[in-house]
Amino acid sequence: MSKLMKAVQINSYGDRSVLELNNIEIPTPAENEVLIKVKAAGVNPVDWKVREGYLQPMLNHALPLTLGWDVSGEIVETGDKVSHLKVGDAVYSRPDIAKNGSYAEYLTAVAEEVALKPESLTWQEAAGVPLAALTAWQSLYEIAKLHEGERVLIHAGSGAVGQFAIQLAKLRGAYVYTTTSEKNTSLVLGLGADQAIDYHQEDFSELKDLDVVFDTIGGETLANSWKTLKKGGRLVSIVDEPDKGIASEHGVSASFYFVQANREQLDKLAELADAGKLNVNIDSEFGLDELSKAHERSESGHARGKIIINVSD
Ligand SMILES: NC(=O)c1ccc[n+]([C@@H]2O[C@H](COP(=O)([O-])OP(=O)(O)OC[C@H]3O[C@@H](n4cnc5c(N)ncnc54)[C@H](OP(=O)(O)O)[C@@H]3O)[C@@H](O)[C@H]2O)c1
Repeated sequence: MSKLMKAVQINSYGDRSVLELNNIEIPTPAENEVLIKVKAAGVNPVDWKVREGYLQPMLNHALPLTLGWDVSGEIVETGDKVSHLKVGDAVYSRPDIAKNGSYAEYLTAVAEEVALKPESLTWQEAAGVPLAALTAWQSLYEIAKLHEGERVLIHAGSGAVGQFAIQLAKLRGAYVYTTTSEKNTSLVLGLGADQAIDYHQEDFSELKDLDVVFDTIGGETLANSWKTLKKGGRLVSIVDEPDKGIASEHGVSASFYFVQANREQLDKLAELADAGKLNVNIDSEFGLDELSKAHERSESGHARGKIIINVSD
């Protein structure tokens, strides 16, 4: 095995021109880590937000930094203290966002954050699951504590997080409203949404007495969401910190949430995918040498599912 690998890195913060395809050392796993030969990486909006430097205060990365925090691949080495994974396992993960990511031929990840890949999914589909699906799972099930029979509004149902959120909310037995564009109405209804609201033509803020709002947009969308909730309702935003004063004026609870790694939840997501209960839609695929185009697509704000980087066969 060559000691060098290709990785897409940044060495300063800025626009897409700071992305560099470099040859760097293949990392060595620590005793609690595994070395993954990357098959596919997922692109998420956080990748270009980190690239721009927007998250510097929160994440304080060291540069140069390899971007990309979704991966599927094969284990090629394990640290001495790793027991649940072995060389040859097909895995997927949302690796630690504070460290080097998956736009690379190899990646070290803490074994506790790595799960066996859903067998029925392709490498590309599997790489599209961890970050977005864990975000939807944790926001709806753990923070909003969504119950069977409740009414939930999911913003941007055609986005990567929104698509998983619709499916997970339906699996919980909730009634799902989702904002989308007319062009994506059949997509969100096909994922199980009960009602699609065209955000270009209709005013979602006329909805009343909802139990939960899941905000994946922020700004005006968050501001217009308060009055849709019933007293005691819950709002979770993954984009903006909701104003606690406004929340209390409306008699609702509200929080910002940032996704956490969780192997048990990845195992449950894999079970759902293998049971045919969790679909992954791929918006577009690129090579490691096309990261600039992949970021451009993500930055457009109009992807209809996951943007995937094909790293190796
Ligand atoms: N806090 C966390 O842990 C966390 C985790 C994951 C993601 N996020 C954040 O959550 C946001 C969504 O992530 P994502 O991966 O789902 O993004 P994404 O896949 O890039 O979302 C794109 C989708 O959003 C739709 N959209 C855009 N504006 C809309 C609006 N005003 N109303 C309804 N739909 C709209 C677009 O549909 P049209 O083409 O029809 O406009 C498109 O299908 C990002 O800001 C991301 O950084 C946060």
